[in-house]
Amino acid sequence: SRREERPEVRVILAAPRGFCAGVRRAIDAVRDALNVHGAPVYVRRAIVHNLEVVRSLEAEGAIFIEELWEAPEGSVVLFSAHGVAPAIAADARRRGHIAYDAVCPLVAKVHREVERHERNGRQLILIGHRGHPEIEGTLGHLRSAKAFVVNSVAEIADLPMRPDEPTAYAVQTTYSVDDAQEIVEALRTRFSDLVEPASSDICYATTNRQAAVREVAAQADAIIVAGESFSSNANRLAEVAALTCPSVQLVASATDIDWSKLPRNGVIGVTAAASTPETTVQDIIEALSVRYRVILEELEAMRELTVFKRLAIA
Ligand code: F3S
Repeated sequence: SRREERPEVRVILAAPRGFCAGVRRAIDAVRDALNVHGAPVYVRRAIVHNLEVVRSLEAEGAIFIEELWEAPEGSVVLFSAHGVAPAIAADARRRGHIAYDAVCPLVAKVHREVERHERNGRQLILIGHRGHPEIEGTLGHLRSAKAFVVNSVAEIADLPMRPDEPTAYAVQTTYSVDDAQEIVEALRTRFSDLVEPASSDICYATTNRQAAVREVAAQADAIIVAGESFSSNANRLAEVAALTCPSVQLVASATDIDWSKLPRNGVIGVTAAASTPETTVQDIIEALSVRYRVILEELEAMRELTVFKRLAIA
């Protein structure tokens, strides 16, 4: 029968994968705001970097805007999980909006750190991706709005500070654990008075998802990362996988799978970015099941129990 003609593959799902506590909290906040205030609720920027999530919230009555002026005066407005500059919150007040900030508590923690460093007169170095909303928001928390954003060891050489100048660094929460390590080593070599975060700014979810995909990639012929091309943490997962796995693809949905990059048989690993819903993973497994006889397993690299308190919406 046709059934038996399908080649067999082992599909290993990485765990943890998919939604982190900060993403869940931000999505819940939009739904709570819709329940409490009724539609429409305006969301400034993508609440999380996933179009599927954005579309389903739109269907429930959320309206996504780029800038606050797009919402009529006195609207209910939510800020995304990536965080915003205080100037944006002040602008919302001026416009008479009822504003809720769905910033992830772990991003907010980084905001408090950089504010403290600035108060203490330290020059600040942000390890992250220029132009990413989290970095923009963090820069907005500095009164001087001035920090040096670095994204590679090479860029450290260009920093204008003296080696003995008081400095401090912070890291984008979704940055690559390995790349951050390298850059931090270079900073330690370069600066004699460098203050470091008490614990890593790279969040538990980023760290765990990178560790889990690394384990799966070590035994897979191909890896599928479910996530958007514009999601920072999704791209980092693909990079980590590519360190050991010869064929890695980042797909926003099952229809984007490039079948020519998958083996005829063997092992296919699957993971999902912190902003990717589990339904996308299930769609991918279904699509694989049409072409293959799938032997499904899960590799749980570590248990993840972090949950954040819901944002109060009143
Ligand atoms: Fe927060 Fe990390 Fe998720 S910073 S939004 S828990 S990826």
